[in-house]
Amino acid sequence: MLKRFSGSRCSISAVVWSLVGCLLMFHFYSLVHRKDGMGREIQFGASHHPQLRELEKVEEESIHIPPPRKRSPRAAKRKPKRPTTIIDEFLDENSQIRHVFFPDQKLAVDPMKDAGNDSYYYYPGRIWLDTEGNPIQAHGGGILYDEKSGTYYWYGEYKDGPTYHAHKKGAARVDILGVGCYSSKDLWKWNNEGIVLAAEKTNETHDLHELNVLERPKVIYNHKTAKYVMWMHIDDVNYTKASVGIAISDYPTGPFDYLYSKRPHGFESRDMTIFKDDDGIAYLIYSSEDNSELHIGPLTEDYLDVTNIMRRILVGQHREAPALFKHEGTYYMITSGCTGWAPNEALAHAAESIMGPWETMGNPCIGGNKMARLTTFFAQSTFVIPLPGFPGSFILMADRWNPADLRDSRYVWLPLIVGGPVDRPLDYNFGFPLWSRVSIYWHRKWKLPQGWSGWKKI
Ligand SMILES: *[C@@H]1O[C@H](CO)[C@@H](O)[C@H](O)[C@H]1NC(C)=O
Ligand SMILES: *[C@@H]1O[C@H](CO)[C@@H](O)[C@H](O)[C@H]1NC(C)=O
Ligand SMILES: *[C@@H]1O[C@H](CO)[C@@H](O)[C@H](O)[C@H]1NC(C)=O
Repeated sequence: MLKRFSGSRCSISAVVWSLVGCLLMFHFYSLVHRKDGMGREIQFGASHHPQLRELEKVEEESIHIPPPRKRSPRAAKRKPKRPTTIIDEFLDENSQIRHVFFPDQKLAVDPMKDAGNDSYYYYPGRIWLDTEGNPIQAHGGGILYDEKSGTYYWYGEYKDGPTYHAHKKGAARVDILGVGCYSSKDLWKWNNEGIVLAAEKTNETHDLHELNVLERPKVIYNHKTAKYVMWMHIDDVNYTKASVGIAISDYPTGPFDYLYSKRPHGFESRDMTIFKDDDGIAYLIYSSEDNSELHIGPLTEDYLDVTNIMRRILVGQHREAPALFKHEGTYYMITSGCTGWAPNEALAHAAESIMGPWETMGNPCIGGNKMARLTTFFAQSTFVIPLPGFPGSFILMADRWNPADLRDSRYVWLPLIVGGPVDRPLDYNFGFPLWSRVSIYWHRKWKLPQGWSGWKKI
């Protein structure tokens, strides 16, 4: 901030006095808001559409951890049992409360049957069926809104194969099957468009050979070349290749032609996403340097490569699963920590310029319960969808990974609202709440606000 003054003739004392003034204002401001107790109880409102109030209701949830199973006294003596945490329960295939995290098939959301009162309701964590009655396979995915056809396309990892460990120390995996694609006009009823980029079965040196790794595919449209461009994380079974892959198609439903893979800017790249800004410039954001930091840089005009411009952001913060969005000229990002398939705490970040500096604002999760908030509702961010007609309103798309059976990983979609002041002092700008708060509200069931434009088209 001080840089702004350095070139001007403005006297030092004016700077000091304005700082003092601002600090006093901030002090007063925090006094007013401290009365509200927890920051999350601050009322936002006024600037928001009345239809959104429903989404901003704080919904509490209690999960009871079952008592530990009886063990023989001898076993107990050999290895004293540590208290079970909710994350242990989440990761335990035989947990008595498994249904809390992975609700039964009987509760699947079926858009062809759930007509009437249940139409358009999202049930985070339940099995979600496509219009043919099969569970949607689009994990670690992202959404493209195709203006030409007024259709949403959901791309993600098609993981409908057996989960196994390639070797003793390897993480749970499913062989590459390809990138699944689903289309929808309303973001609720999804038609299976098939596998739009398929695995390579025979050529063992090919990036898409089924024994390799393809994660987090994202697609954007290039107006200049009229091509749909897909970027994805490409790796070998041990995650040592750490590259991005690029594929291209004339149609949103593919088939996509795989072009090549590379290490962007010469650096390791694991979890990644791409973001297309209003001015048509697209960016790659990826976890690098052993996932200790993120890198960001613009793509070339055809979106088929990175340029040589790159900035390191969130250095030393060990974040992955980035999901970017923009509101009123400010850039926001949700990330997760790095704990493999196990869920962890999400953080929201903000920046005035997409190239940084990026500032970490804190955990955006509201409602549920404390452990749910500390685990992003047992899920990991993958994408944020803007809701046209409701500025400041978005959907967070997250994956509830099931490492015991990855194809049965669930989707957690929740309303994400930008608005209201942040509730903790920030690292720079002397603690001024420069950014709006980002809030992700837990709901057992919820639907998009009445009058959302997607429904009018139906
Ligand atoms: C829909 O909701 C109304 C009012 O709550 C209820 O009377 C009706 O039985 C419900 N219909 C279905 C099909 O569940
Ligand atoms: C196998 O894939 C590699 C890498 O994409 C390629 O260079 C090679 O030509 C392919 N071989 C065959 C037989 O298609
Ligand atoms: C992966 O790591 C395992 C164990 O270290 C090793 O046996 C295997 O050859 C490695 N595979 C590849 C493709 O690097």
